[in-house]
Amino acid sequence: MTKEGPFIPSWPGFDPAISFLAARLELGLGRKITRLAIMKLLYNPISPFARMCVITAREVGLKSLEIIGVETLSVTNANPEIVRHNPLGRIPTLITNHGHSIHDSRVICEYFAHHAGNKSVLPDEPVKRFRILTLQALGQGMADTAVALRYETATRPESLRWRELIDRNRERLTAACKDLEEHWVNELKEVTLGSITVAAALAYVDFRHGDLGWRDNNQRLADWFGQFSARPSMAPVTA
Ligand code: BEZ
Repeated sequence: MTKEGPFIPSWPGFDPAISFLAARLELGLGRKITRLAIMKLLYNPISPFARMCVITAREVGLKSLEIIGVETLSVTNANPEIVRHNPLGRIPTLITNHGHSIHDSRVICEYFAHHAGNKSVLPDEPVKRFRILTLQALGQGMADTAVALRYETATRPESLRWRELIDRNRERLTAACKDLEEHWVNELKEVTLGSITVAAALAYVDFRHGDLGWRDNNQRLADWFGQFSARPSMAPVTA
């Protein structure tokens, strides 16, 4: 059974102050994680990349996983708790029960599937496999773009913001949704690393960029996302 704790972030609209305080209590400031009997996922409830991993863990039926909330601090300040396990200071980072670090989200998702003995989220058959990997790359690119857009519009000092880049990233997201609508709806109906990644990316787009209006011209994608969002794997992480 997946052990989710120690804090209770809800998605969306969680209270970062409460959840991150709990996360600090669990990890202890400056202390490396030493209890290695169970896999640990360093996680942030807002991150679409961390969410991809949690959805995958649930979909492949991973038997045990501890989900630990950590604060990413800011774009310009690394959290030493994360850097101890990942030099890039990024979440998600997985610490296996042998104490090895695994990142990024794509590698973690594949590791979860491998560990659970699940072949269906990323089959070996080459045509299917590379189609799914391409869908996964599209979802990953959407999440990258949506996070970059968030940084550009909310994190970067106002005087340094670049209007053309903001517009370009919004265009990218719109084009990706159109492509999903026109070319991927059938593949999305299967639960794979591709559809999971797209679902996590769209959930983040809704959370941070609700004004994008991606549903307006993409009815089939909107219907698919509505159905996928009702899956138990998409539920918020709870203690
Ligand atoms: C955000 O605040 O939008 C965010 C936080 C952590 C990772 C990615 C995005």
